[in-house]
Amino acid sequence: MSNEPGSTLPATTPTAREAATRHAEYPRWIEVEDYVTASLHADDPALDEAVAASDAAGLPPIAVSPTQGRFLSLLARIQKSRRILELGTLGGYSTIWLARALEPGGRLITLELDPARAAVASANIARAGLADLVDIRVGDALSSLQQLVAAGEAPFDLIFIDADKQRIPDYFTAALSLSARGSVIVVDNIVRDGAVIDSKAASDPAIDGIRRFYEMAGAEPRVDATALQTVGSKGYDGFAVLLVTG
Ligand code: SAH
Ligand code: DHB
Ligand code: MG
Repeated sequence: MSNEPGSTLPATTPTAREAATRHAEYPRWIEVEDYVTASLHADDPALDEAVAASDAAGLPPIAVSPTQGRFLSLLARIQKSRRILELGTLGGYSTIWLARALEPGGRLITLELDPARAAVASANIARAGLADLVDIRVGDALSSLQQLVAAGEAPFDLIFIDADKQRIPDYFTAALSLSARGSVIVVDNIVRDGAVIDSKAASDPAIDGIRRFYEMAGAEPRVDATALQTVGSKGYDGFAVLLVTG
């Protein structure tokens, strides 16, 4: 992605929070995020421990922010989700937010390529008391999705796409196969510091994947969609939110 000094903010780097703080253009993102969480979020030792354990294990700090996690959780609760599918587990931070939002008796399946990351997530999810609700499937998300489709898995209420970005179009297609009218699909990282509109980023496979996703979603009659830009401790990025209408 493009990253000229002083003009853009590296949303993807392990130092996104530090970078955001350094950038004079955006001095308030993190302060406001901290204000929002201090005002509206209760203390949350399980999530704090998940972040600490993920950092200690050397995982990159690319989980969703606290406000983004809360947003995902609220969406799942508004929609009364009983079945949630997540692509890209990392240390299980977003998984914990989403699993907590499940209706009684609900279940979450989360897909992660890296076994070491899945192990960190498993410990974090267990510490949060959610082990019985969460099924971590280790392997390539596309293979796992194909298995879910082949197994005739019932539609999911909420699907959070947050794995590798170049294959978002494939994940979106699979997500539609695993959806029904009323399902909600959320896609993370669909702004990437604005690189999505930067012609210089044309050869970046991740940005290319995001753009192809916009084209597909825009042409897909079965969804109503928009994208929300987000700023904060994870830099400048965004969520696409899609409702399956048919
Ligand atoms: N949802 C997490 C962050 C996920 S980061 C949170 O917000 O807390 C993206 C994750 O996708 C990484 O852990 C990475 O290992 C995983 N990933 C990358 N390629 C993948 C693939 N092909 N299949 C499954 N997971 C993949
Ligand atoms: C990356 C992945 C993410 O899901 C994210 O939110 C930020 C960065 C990455 O692979 O760099
Ligand atoms: Mg992400």
